[in-house]
Amino acid sequence: MQNARRITENTTWVGCDDKRTYLFENLFPIPEGISYNSYIITDEKTALLDTVDATVAEQFMENLNYVLKDRTLDYLIIQHMEPDHSAIIARLVRKYPTMQLVVNAKTAVMVEQFFEEVDPKRFAYVKEGDSLNLGVHTLRFYMAPMVHWPEVMVTYDEHDKILFSADAFGVFGALNGNLFDDGFEVNETVWKEARRYYSNIVGKYGVQVQALLKKAAGLDIHRLCPLHGPVWSNHIGEFIERYDKWSRYEPEDKEVIILCGSIYGHTQDAANKLAMKLSKLGVANIKTYDVSRTHASELIGEIFRASHLVLACATYNGGIYTPMENLLSDMKGLAVQNRTVALIENGTWAPMAAREIRKRLEEMKNMCIMDNVLTIKSVLKQSQEGELEAFARQIVDSLNK
Ligand SMILES: Cc1cc2nc3c(=O)[nH]c(=O)nc-3n(C[C@H](O)[C@H](O)[C@H](O)COP(=O)(O)O)c2cc1C
Ligand SMILES: [Fe+2]
Ligand SMILES: [Fe+2]
Repeated sequence: MQNARRITENTTWVGCDDKRTYLFENLFPIPEGISYNSYIITDEKTALLDTVDATVAEQFMENLNYVLKDRTLDYLIIQHMEPDHSAIIARLVRKYPTMQLVVNAKTAVMVEQFFEEVDPKRFAYVKEGDSLNLGVHTLRFYMAPMVHWPEVMVTYDEHDKILFSADAFGVFGALNGNLFDDGFEVNETVWKEARRYYSNIVGKYGVQVQALLKKAAGLDIHRLCPLHGPVWSNHIGEFIERYDKWSRYEPEDKEVIILCGSIYGHTQDAANKLAMKLSKLGVANIKTYDVSRTHASELIGEIFRASHLVLACATYNGGIYTPMENLLSDMKGLAVQNRTVALIENGTWAPMAAREIRKRLEEMKNMCIMDNVLTIKSVLKQSQEGELEAFARQIVDSLNK
């Protein structure tokens, strides 16, 4: 049975929910699933914007067949070649022998790499600002290189004032019927998943996102149709504001998160005592995470949100405890910058973690590393109460700046 849903008179969502994939990109946990969105415009000509992941191919074909009925598909607009959106291309090429693939020069190369059988005669090339007229609807294409692949382009429907934004403005989580953002509560949980998606998938490309936001600012957008998650109309302004912050690597909240790498719990214990101390000094909304326990993608989301990080870490084989080392590598890879960081280290014979973490942080841009490092030899001692107090106070002072 089909599961398509109309958005405007001629534009229909023909995407699918996926609740079986355990890890998105075989990397990021998606406990609430994910949607792969695909949109079809049925005007004098018919145009499909992207396909879906192979896991939901059959449902997608049912949706598409239902909307097209006995019509053919004239255009497949390929905004992004990542396989979660491009897996069905060869199948459509076979099914619709006159269908043109609307691509830019970079996309065409990737189509040929993924699908040998596609005849290059099928390509209809577009570049920045080009348009495609379907009848009533005119579509205009804007390049969005490296958001987050080089060939990405977005499409603006001048008739419906819809921006089809490719992976930008995507959110983890299946739709569960909530295709439109006025049909469910857009609460902190939703923003948390939007942030986790952004920071882990697009986070590295802040400069390129800024370029896309500049182009979007020139458009009158009534609806945002991304390739994952809901269609946005009521919260477009707020979403764009958040994208602007995230892509400038500016924290959303002046808050402290304590990220703890502890093998046997003693470093964690110090982190707990710091949290209590901070709270006594008036700091609100402190969050503590065990980097071994919480998935790195969640930690990255939190690091994009908060202004102040405390990294508390055990020394491990002369270096940084592995889960913390991995997190630091993710932070660098995703271009984390502009954060204030305080360091706690533990070591039973030669504490090294703080020195090594500092080196990693210095490879990132504009990280303010606090001078006062708290060093623990195995266990935080009663005699270190004053040290802990001073350590906490430097964080409070910085927060109050
Ligand atoms: C496998 C392993 C390697 C360690 N390597 C070091 C080290 O190189 N230098 C050091 O001072 N402590 C080292 N330690 C001790 C820890 O840094 C830490 O002091 C101890 O595990 C207590 O803290 P925790 O309860 O937070 O894990 C090591 C511990 C383990 C289990
Ligand atoms: Fe993608
Ligand atoms: Fe995607």
